[in-house]
Amino acid sequence: MRLFLFMCFFCIDLFAKNIAYSPEVLSLYLNKDDKKATGRLLPTNAFNILQSDKDKYLIEVEGFVNPKTPFVLYFNDSQRVMVAAFSKNTKLDFKNKIDGKNGKWDKASIEVWVDKKDFEKNNKDMFVRAKTLYSENCGICHSAHKESEFGANAWPATFRSMADRTGIDKKDRWLVIEYLQKHSKDIKGTK
Ligand code: HEC
Repeated sequence: MRLFLFMCFFCIDLFAKNIAYSPEVLSLYLNKDDKKATGRLLPTNAFNILQSDKDKYLIEVEGFVNPKTPFVLYFNDSQRVMVAAFSKNTKLDFKNKIDGKNGKWDKASIEVWVDKKDFEKNNKDMFVRAKTLYSENCGICHSAHKESEFGANAWPATFRSMADRTGIDKKDRWLVIEYLQKHSKDIKGTK
């Protein structure tokens, strides 16, 4: 019995995905020895750590690809909520591609490298921090607009037009934008 349980846990561990999240924007590299980043992974989006090297991890990122902008990975099949973005014309090697139907974007994943860091196991705490940053900074001159007042596509421009009036640090701005988009009135997909 004990051996059986041990084997079970061993198997579960073997197949468990090593899902991680970052509260900050991460630099992405196409090859592990690249010195120059070609892309960015945006905060609160899940990634799967596949392999560990000296100072980098190989990660898998899932998302949706608009055939018109095949250097951006989106959070769902139709809204401009970014998961990862690469410099224009980067040729990405998409895996597990499923063609979108009726004009919806294609589902796909990519494998890229990131600098090693301690990542978080879920995005709950970072969403709480984003909410606090938002309500404390965007509720000073007028009361903070509800997250659900705007749609996912409208939030980035709305936020940016006001961000310089606040004390929200530049490095936290993407965290707040992702938070707002993923709590907007029309967001699709699981946060
Ligand atoms: C320093 C004061 C101040 C802060 C801080 C501030 N706002 Fe505003 N906000 C204003 C004023 C004043 C207006 C009226 C329109 C204008 O001046 O552009 C406004 C208008 C707005 C509107 C309505 C715009 C429209 O066209 O309907 C939204 C939405 C908004 N702010 C969101 C935010 C968000 C999000 C933040 C945080 C990033 C924020 N505000 C922070 C002063 C501020």
